[in-house]
Amino acid sequence: MNSSLSFKAILLLLLTPAIAMAQATVSLNPTDEAPVIDKNIYGHFAEHLGRCIYDGLYVGEKSNIPNTEGVRNDIITALKELKIPNLRWPGGCFADTYHWKDGVGPQSERPTIVNTWWGNVTEDNSFGTHNFLNLCEELGAEPYLAGNVGSGEVQELADWVQYVNFDGISPMSDWRKENGREKPWGVKYWGVGNEAWGCGGNMRVEYYADIYRKYATFMSDAGMEGGLYKIASGASNDDYHWTEVLMRDIPHNLLQGVALHHYSVINWNAKGPSVGFSEEQYFKTMEQAWLMEELVTKHVEIMDKYDPKGKVDLIVDEWGGWYDVMEDTNPGFLFQQNTMRDAMIAGMTLNIFHNHARRVKMANLAQVVNVLQAVILTEGEKMILTPTYHVMKMYNVHQDAQLIPIELNTPDYEFNGEKLPAVNASASKDAEGKVHISLVNIDSKKSNTVSVDVSALNLKDFTATGLTSKTLEDHNTFESPEKIQPEQFKKFKLKNGTLEVELPPFSVVVLEGK
Ligand code: AHR
Repeated sequence: MNSSLSFKAILLLLLTPAIAMAQATVSLNPTDEAPVIDKNIYGHFAEHLGRCIYDGLYVGEKSNIPNTEGVRNDIITALKELKIPNLRWPGGCFADTYHWKDGVGPQSERPTIVNTWWGNVTEDNSFGTHNFLNLCEELGAEPYLAGNVGSGEVQELADWVQYVNFDGISPMSDWRKENGREKPWGVKYWGVGNEAWGCGGNMRVEYYADIYRKYATFMSDAGMEGGLYKIASGASNDDYHWTEVLMRDIPHNLLQGVALHHYSVINWNAKGPSVGFSEEQYFKTMEQAWLMEELVTKHVEIMDKYDPKGKVDLIVDEWGGWYDVMEDTNPGFLFQQNTMRDAMIAGMTLNIFHNHARRVKMANLAQVVNVLQAVILTEGEKMILTPTYHVMKMYNVHQDAQLIPIELNTPDYEFNGEKLPAVNASASKDAEGKVHISLVNIDSKKSNTVSVDVSALNLKDFTATGLTSKTLEDHNTFESPEKIQPEQFKKFKLKNGTLEVELPPFSVVVLEGK
């Protein structure tokens, strides 16, 4: 008896280190009822802000940098490879000061305006509606136009819709043809203003809901099979009252989407640097990124109350990390570097959107080039892809795949007595039957072993891609553009229907099973 007890004690001692090792579990629960992950969750956002459009996407036709109608060819290629499904334009705050008629017709006749939101620079309107919509056509991406409600007029937005969508004879379609475009572009997605609670006019939601009704009424569906998809300017963060009033006071036949904006910012007055941040700043950024889970859950609860059949979608049309601008850059241009911290935000946020695919049908990362959590940075002729780009590309296998609901248990990532879930995940099955599982470990120091129960899926072969690096603030630079690259990931094995995956600290891994 004694000897058997001591044997047990020894066994326990031997096992203790393994028990103390962080262990997460994920079970996959496929069901035909699960929603499809709309590819539009992988949307991007291009505002007339800093070097996003000018000296970013758009260099002009006369530039030495190879371009198509003035848009850099290297960016076009990179965005196509990313499978960008939609692009939101021209803002942001800029949208509510933008008068689209300034940006069509002969260049020499286009007026200039001052971009009061972003650095008070002169906007010469050289990149306008034709440039943007032709770019979207080239990319195979759906355009998402944000209309000017703050300083515009109902007729102005109604005219824009007619200009880009109407095929027959009309003042606006005739003008479009004069300007060189015979066929309409057929723009489905329309934002009715932006951040109406702030830069879009500092409105109360009760007032904005009425304004929305009026604008939406005069946006004609003519020429658009299936109608327009109109998106109301939505809440900032946890302003649940905003969503409540939109859902209650706007007739749902006028409303296809309700927006939500949430940035992973530590403190608006002390955002911290994009490189050279402390662990505390990293933890707080993760806390803000993880908040998206709660925000989406609670906004969706309100939407469910007014729209139990789920006809109106939640559109997270601005999200991403926001830090102090890089030294010696214009404070109004919001130029920041993009490190492994941003890869964590991207991987985690996309997992959240996937898991809420029932209601979240579109999202737009802010912003596509040279601004905030950009997927692409440029300097003169050079262009680099950021860690965020690589995560979005690794994840694009989930686009239009059917969600596989998961159950997840995870250890915590602890810092200074505070805790966050260390591991987050999502899974889907594509049209060919391939299953993809995305895993993120945000812990800055600890590896986490994840046991993924895949027994319900009868999968035999697995491959994986991972994004890892030595330090959290590692990033790609113009001198070292490939420092962070996705690589084949081998730290996993399949045994008796369970995948054992060893996730390094701050890593993103996508597994593919067939
Ligand atoms: O993305 C930058 C700005 O953030 C947008 O212009 C505005 O909508 C938001 O406040």
